[in-house]
Amino acid sequence: MTMAADYSSGPGRATGPLVVLGLETSCDETAAAVVRLSPEGRAEVLSSAVHSQIDDHAAYGGVVPEIAARSHVEMIAGVAARAMDEAGVGYDGLDGIAATAGPGLVGGVMVGLSFGKAVALARGLPLVAVNHLEGHAVSARLGEPVDYPFLLLLVSGGHCQLLEVRGVGEMTRLGTTIDDAAGEAFDKIAKALGLGYPGGPALERLAASGDGSRFDLPRALLGRKDCDFSFSGLKTAASRLAAACETDEDRADLADAVQTAIARQLAERSDRAMKAYAGAHDHRLFVVAGGVAANRTVRATLEATAARNGFAFLAPPMAYCTDNAAMIALAGAERLRKGWISDIDVAARPRWPLDERRAIDDPVHKAGRKGAKA
Ligand code: KG4
Ligand code: ZN
Repeated sequence: MTMAADYSSGPGRATGPLVVLGLETSCDETAAAVVRLSPEGRAEVLSSAVHSQIDDHAAYGGVVPEIAARSHVEMIAGVAARAMDEAGVGYDGLDGIAATAGPGLVGGVMVGLSFGKAVALARGLPLVAVNHLEGHAVSARLGEPVDYPFLLLLVSGGHCQLLEVRGVGEMTRLGTTIDDAAGEAFDKIAKALGLGYPGGPALERLAASGDGSRFDLPRALLGRKDCDFSFSGLKTAASRLAAACETDEDRADLADAVQTAIARQLAERSDRAMKAYAGAHDHRLFVVAGGVAANRTVRATLEATAARNGFAFLAPPMAYCTDNAAMIALAGAERLRKGWISDIDVAARPRWPLDERRAIDDPVHKAGRKGAKA
């Protein structure tokens, strides 16, 4: 990372609006977006193009890294051109390029990052390498201005973390999953129920007609007082029950039970984190972000927990819960505002924890076969 003080104090850049092209290719969405960040910190999405690879992976029941990387190569130039056309600012109107540099499937990350480097070099623009998770962390700011600090639950297909967010790139991890992420549990259980990929939205639709009260699913880490999560026991138990389901009604009831159990665990750990956070902060804001934040039961359960603890509650607009490039452009613009730009040879990183200090001091790899993803 280059601390380019001269860049941030350049004409108009420290004080004027910043317009950034963001690129996102870390999983199964090829995305590009243009965002304008006003000097007051208000974000305006000028365009947001997302090409979903769901059809490419559906037959395999999950994301196949090699297929994802190839598809990103085929799509990135077209998706970026679409975002630029829709934004209508032209390359001369850009102040910088932001690209996801990790964590994620590294073959895909390299595609977006290399494309970003090429554009930055060709147009003489600064490059900002963005942590995908920092993108999710700022995604609520795409809907309305949000002041730091806030308590964040980041809950997606690869991640499940509670973070104290004090500012751009300033985060402390309060809890994380010791095995699977919540979205992964949704996806795997949905697969066991015979639903398509991605499983979260399909499971939510099925759960709408079910009543899960007859199922008694395991509750993880009950004896612990920390804010860590675990979903592998629930995943195993629910997959076994799914195999024994005979009717559509059984399946809908199980889907409802699973959704309730996941929402409850997210709320219980968030409740603990809110109590710890409230002791240190007067400004009480709880933000939920990431693909699972699109789930209405999860949102409602968390909103009620926030209200009980005297926290304001905020979730990003639905379109910015799942992977998109507007959040990457915004995280890049916030870094650019501070004059934090990346070296052009910055590398793609398959793993890149947001709170690097905590990840080193307190690794979660002790538990689980492969350990948590971040
Ligand atoms: O943030 P995201 O698009 O990608 C990652 O960074 O992982 O999150 C994708 C995850 C998937 O596991 C998907 O099943 C889950 O978010 N998801 C949902 C819903 N929409 C997406 N899970 C439950 N209910 C939903 N409505
Ligand atoms: Zn994501």
